[in-house]
Amino acid sequence: MVFALSHDAFVEAARMISEARYVIALTGSGVSKESNIPTFRGKDGLWRNYDAMELATPTAFARNPQLVWEWYSWRQGLISECSPNPAHLTLAKWEASGLLKSLITQNVDGLHVRAGSKNVQEVHGDLWALKCTSCTHRSRLSSPASSIPSCPDCGSHLRPDVVWFGESLDPTVMASVSQELEKTDVCLVIGTSALVQPAASFPLVVSKQGGSLIEVNIEQTPLTQFVNFHLSGPAGQILPRLDELLET
Ligand code: OAD
Ligand code: ZN
Repeated sequence: MVFALSHDAFVEAARMISEARYVIALTGSGVSKESNIPTFRGKDGLWRNYDAMELATPTAFARNPQLVWEWYSWRQGLISECSPNPAHLTLAKWEASGLLKSLITQNVDGLHVRAGSKNVQEVHGDLWALKCTSCTHRSRLSSPASSIPSCPDCGSHLRPDVVWFGESLDPTVMASVSQELEKTDVCLVIGTSALVQPAASFPLVVSKQGGSLIEVNIEQTPLTQFVNFHLSGPAGQILPRLDELLET
């Protein structure tokens, strides 16, 4: 593991990226922090101030759909006022230039897509997507929900199509992720505490098959001991700095 505060470490990490065959990135809420979207666990993190068990489980929704929707509507309002930051934009630029093959995100804020990333696996879903609690209906919201939306097909409550605690990831998404991981020789791990499974293990799949890991985070995580480079700092500064080195 190399702690990259020195210019040389940045140069080495940039070299690793430019010489790789198949680079992917795994992102977490830290990548959106500089867009003013709160993370979950850090200082001011959502789970510091709100109880996940009352807001982000199927049981919580069955018990109090109004409360759950109020919380999601608040987050939708917050996110609709935010814009992608230089970290999102750099990742989109790298994909457009062929450097980055795909992006796996735990974020439900849609900012990678708004930044222009195309091959994005949103493994925890999408805050604007809806699914019916009874039938197979799916749709999307274009503005924050003002009340509990109802299913046009069966009248049941619609819920946000995000992964809640106790739920599994979509098997189709998981299959695509596995295919991407198999091909990867360098995985960037950006702005995630690496505490939530299964996403926290995706980088380990890459390192077990001989690939390399570059972590970008303002602090160390349980993954840090396994990475080749830990680039310490805000993603919105570190990624543009790497980008400059890739261009020289
Ligand atoms: P966390 O809140 O657990 O972790 C955020 C990480 O971002 C921490 O490691 C911070 O140090 C780092 N960070 C903060 N600001 C940063 C910045 N400007 N640049 C780089 N890193 C920064 O968020 P996640 O790891 O995304 O799941 O959490 C994983 C999942 O837990 C979420 O997807 C969500 C949550 O419960 C669901 O809702 C299913
Ligand atoms: Zn329905």
